[in-house]
Amino acid sequence: MSAEGRLRAGVIGLGWAGQQHMAAYAEVADVDLVALAGMELDALQTLGVAYEVPEEHRYTDWQDLVDHGRLDLLSIAAPTTLHAPIAVTALDAGIHVLSEKPMAENAETARLMVEAAERNDRVLDVSFNHRRRGHVQVLKKMIDDGILGPIYYAKAGWLRREGIPGLGSWFTQRAISGGGPLMDLGVHMLDIALYLLNEPAVRAVTAATYAEFGPRGKGSSAAATMRKTGVEPGAFDVEDLSTAFLRLQGGGTLLLESSWAQWIPKDQCYVTVYGSDGGASIEWGAPDDPHRSLNVWTEQAGVPATLHPNIPPDGLHTESVLDFVAKVRSGDYTNHRGKQALARAVVIDACYASAEKGTEITLDP
Ligand SMILES: NC(=O)c1ccc[n+]([C@@H]2O[C@H](COP(=O)([O-])OP(=O)(O)OC[C@H]3O[C@@H](n4cnc5c(N)ncnc54)[C@H](O)[C@@H]3O)[C@@H](O)[C@H]2O)c1
Repeated sequence: MSAEGRLRAGVIGLGWAGQQHMAAYAEVADVDLVALAGMELDALQTLGVAYEVPEEHRYTDWQDLVDHGRLDLLSIAAPTTLHAPIAVTALDAGIHVLSEKPMAENAETARLMVEAAERNDRVLDVSFNHRRRGHVQVLKKMIDDGILGPIYYAKAGWLRREGIPGLGSWFTQRAISGGGPLMDLGVHMLDIALYLLNEPAVRAVTAATYAEFGPRGKGSSAAATMRKTGVEPGAFDVEDLSTAFLRLQGGGTLLLESSWAQWIPKDQCYVTVYGSDGGASIEWGAPDDPHRSLNVWTEQAGVPATLHPNIPPDGLHTESVLDFVAKVRSGDYTNHRGKQALARAVVIDACYASAEKGTEITLDP
């Protein structure tokens, strides 16, 4: 921390995700973005100049940034299997960490991150930026206010028409990504659904995975460029569709579907909740098809009513970063050790295990 109490932040990863964190830090009044790391020299130079990061604090190796950045805060937006090694090293160096989702390639590794946060009394946070969408926030408040009654069933999904993030890129190599769209997209929808439902424990999971597009060289996003991460282009050995049925504490159920490529007219992102006194559905579109909606079906004075609440702007990464900084500023880190994100990783592990075994997987209470 500087003498004036300003916090020094660094970002590892220069891709789309890393750039969201950079932009967000640039908006926080009492934080200085002082260090960047990534392997693309041109992007390192351009972003370094844009964010006025001194040349001596632009690194091509994350370890150098952790060792020499003199940081208070670190955002990790590198390929998934790097999250845990970077986070544990940074937490052990006394740096508070905000990791991109998915937290890690599996729950075992994610747990190492939580343990490092506990051991060092630091904040460990994971960026679930989509729960910061305006309509998610409005629906959350309506559910918390009891307008829909207890929610007993929910469906959540993110399905792309043609959105494999680069065939052969690190995203499609299990050894680097940990998995396909369930890891990449489904984790956001799982997070939103459990958040809306007030964090019920997941008791059991039945899931299936399929790979019908990637292995045939189909379904790659037109916008995806081959990721320049020093990772050799590799095989497609993850799923491109995952479907899961989750039994929740209290008897509720959740259907979760995640796909990078499907024979559907356009991308779909949705969460639908069914309560005793009302139902609601949220939808939003891809960046090239921007729209968002929240519809609520209930009754008022015994009369069926469809509500279209006003939706505030989306908070997304800016709010994730602001929230992380607020947790650090709070000085009390005990409830900010990444445990909720770890719980998401446990569920995703169970989905993959269920898909592999073809049976239901029960989870410890
Ligand atoms: N929350 C979201 O909405 C969202 C969106 C996209 C990606 N992500 C997540 O963000 C992370 C990054 O995704 P991306 O799409 O930006 O990936 P990307 O491949 O575009 O960028 C990865 C970056 O990591 C850097 N990197 C790799 N190895 C490194 C090393 N040893 N030292 C320093 N830097 C290194 C690369 O040089 C590159 O700049 C992933 O975990 C992904 O799941 C989150």
